[in-house]
Amino acid sequence: MNTNDNLMEKIVSLCKRRGFIFQSSEIYGGLSNTWDYGPFGVELKNNVKCAWWKANVYERDDILGMDAAILMHPKVWEASGHVDNFYDLKSDCKSCKKRFKVADLKDPKKCPECKGELTQGRPFNLMFKTHQGPVEDGAGLIYLRPETAQGMFVNFLNILDSKHPKLPFGLAQVGKAFRNEVTPGNFTFRTREFEQMEIEYFVKPQEADKKLEEWIESRFHWYLNLGIKKENLRKRPHAKDELAHYAKACTDIEYKFPFSAAGGSASGGGWSELEGIANRTDFDLREHAKFSGKDLQYFDDATKEKFYPYIIEPSGGVDRSVLAFLADAYYEEKVKEDIRVVLKLHKDLAPTKVAVLPLLKNRPEIVSLAKKISKDLKKYFITVYDDTAAIGKLYRRQDEVGTLYCVTVDVQSLEDKQVTVRNRDTMEQDRVVIDRLREYLSEKINS
Ligand code: GAP
Repeated sequence: MNTNDNLMEKIVSLCKRRGFIFQSSEIYGGLSNTWDYGPFGVELKNNVKCAWWKANVYERDDILGMDAAILMHPKVWEASGHVDNFYDLKSDCKSCKKRFKVADLKDPKKCPECKGELTQGRPFNLMFKTHQGPVEDGAGLIYLRPETAQGMFVNFLNILDSKHPKLPFGLAQVGKAFRNEVTPGNFTFRTREFEQMEIEYFVKPQEADKKLEEWIESRFHWYLNLGIKKENLRKRPHAKDELAHYAKACTDIEYKFPFSAAGGSASGGGWSELEGIANRTDFDLREHAKFSGKDLQYFDDATKEKFYPYIIEPSGGVDRSVLAFLADAYYEEKVKEDIRVVLKLHKDLAPTKVAVLPLLKNRPEIVSLAKKISKDLKKYFITVYDDTAAIGKLYRRQDEVGTLYCVTVDVQSLEDKQVTVRNRDTMEQDRVVIDRLREYLSEKINS
């Protein structure tokens, strides 16, 4: 049974109960729409980022990693167009005072909640402003970056000069971005502080259309390969009037989130953007060349031509991916008279790979053997030891956080030097010789 009833509420509750995601500053009443990742959440999030980095940097020859600063020269945001164009139109209800993003409204004049009259849409720049240095005047004005992308464009020359890559090549970066969203919400789906995983892939202009299609396929399959169900993932090309100011074409990879469209995308149901793959043309390099006065063209050794490469940009959200992976992996299964909640996360994403559990915690020989096994396994897999409840409860606890294998040490283990290994998804159990345990788990987890 994979029930969708109140799935979002169930996920939010599981995340808090089990230490995945907490409300920020909760003891002070919470900072709305801001979230902290707890012990399991940080592991899941790191695993998502590692899987992305592995697929896009380590397993390819044409992508280089980067980590640019969040704070950048304010001219960057003039050149990028964010100072002039990064606006949402917001509208307020004259009766209930709620605020809406005009793009989300079916009727721009009527409040969708109380049917009151809405104010005229007013532009609202989404960039967070702050000040550098001790004096809070206009001269020290800087922005918290609203996308990681610009950190890669402004380093284009440094990369050419230090690594001498040939087209096509890309830069990859994972990092925080900030947007003063008008309507944040739906848990971690739309927040004001979030993390992005972005690739800027530089290509010859005449190859841009083909490369865009290749990246759409590559990114779509990344999600499927990590276990997202096919029926919950789709591609949605942007209409011309939806495109960002820098884009010639864009296709979103959408996930069928367990919430209604409001706060998601305009495309209906829970279908909402997980990642956008855009053709940014040569807009960014040309703009930065203009504003910085530097020559940001690429010199092609073979043809002796100089030109601005086009940029294909797959840009995904870490937090949205984590939410999609959690929603997709959530199952409730009937086991005898009980409901078992289990997170069937892909093995590469599961926060904990192995739990070692003693069957009887009042038998010191069993406890000490279990602790020894756990200590040995910790060198190879993320492993936890738990003896704080009866075995049934321990299994349920590990299922809820998606632990792949539970290793149980029982009385017989003391004699036959074997343990029981239980598979999270099938609940099938194997008896495994302790000396072969590492090899057995490695075959399953690292294959
Ligand atoms: N550099 C291009 C760019 O930033 P975007 O579509 O605005 O494009 C890319 O953002 C991805 O970043 C989105 O697909 C989404 O996963 C994530 N994202 C954007 N805004 C977000 C927000 N307010 N909260 C959480 N994730 C967000």
